Amino acid sequence: MTENFEEKVKRYKDMGKTAFVIGYTGECGKELVKALSKNKIFSKVVLVGRRKVDLSPDPGPEFEQRIVDYDKLEDHTEAFQGAHVGYCCLGTTKGKAGKEGFIKVDRDYVIKSAEIAKSNGCQHFSVITASTANKNSMFLYVKTKGEVEDALKNMAFDKLTIFKPAVLLCDRAETRIGERIATTIMKPWTMMFPTTGSVPTAYVGRAMVIDTVTPGDEKLRIYNNGEIHGLVKQDGKK
Ligand SMILES: NC(=O)c1ccc[n+]([C@@H]2O[C@H](COP(=O)([O-])OP(=O)(O)OC[C@H]3O[C@@H](n4cnc5c(N)ncnc54)[C@H](OP(=O)(O)O)[C@@H]3O)[C@@H](O)[C@H]2O)c1
Repeated sequence: MTENFEEKVKRYKDMGKTAFVIGYTGECGKELVKALSKNKIFSKVVLVGRRKVDLSPDPGPEFEQRIVDYDKLEDHTEAFQGAHVGYCCLGTTKGKAGKEGFIKVDRDYVIKSAEIAKSNGCQHFSVITASTANKNSMFLYVKTKGEVEDALKNMAFDKLTIFKPAVLLCDRAETRIGERIATTIMKPWTMMFPTTGSVPTAYVGRAMVIDTVTPGDEKLRIYNNGEIHGLVKQDGKK
């Protein structure tokens, strides 16, 4: 008999696992924290970031913030110590960080965090890349996301989940011209075909939790934009 979402959550919760989240102050990260707080699937969640933020509403006593220097992650292995599951919602833009800065955050920090997590007991790594990711592309964004996927696949986690959203929909405080243009151009398309070219960040956060509690022996799970919508719809309202 197929378990419903509540049953999956209960079974998962009973395992007493712990997790960390990097990129928890970002748009997808905030939604992931909300979904984790609502479903309480972990006994402890370490929120790893470069700055402390006001977490309101309080997500719960199992959450703790840990400040790290991402350029010296090897000095902060304790932040990742013992976590069974690692979530990565990290990212920046070329506009914000420059080419080198973008590669550093979106590729190097992600890979380094995953390596440290793996050598400290992480069984399941769950990461957001992009629908277009392709390591052979000539385009920086697409290529970088593809290189990350490739490196993570070679790390042999017990389980690796890759979320590949198209355009993220959210009320972003910060103005991103490219994202604004893409969202505006996509609007009629999004209305006609809501699951193809975009996905709300809330769905990504929820999908990450739904995937975590969904049992299965596959070592690699990949969700494209439509499948992120499908996952949320299938397990509904969480
Ligand atoms: N935008 C889109 O339409 C789109 C589409 C597909 C995939 N994606 C990908 O989806 C992922 C999540 O996107 P998002 O929009 O939720 O991200 P976001 O809102 O930009 O959040 C990014 C996170 O990364 C952290 N970060 C950025 N630069 C950092 C640095 N130098 N050192 C340490 N931490 C740093 C931020 O921390 P602070 O709060 O401290 O800055 C924040 O927690 C990204 O990898 C993005 O590339 C985006």
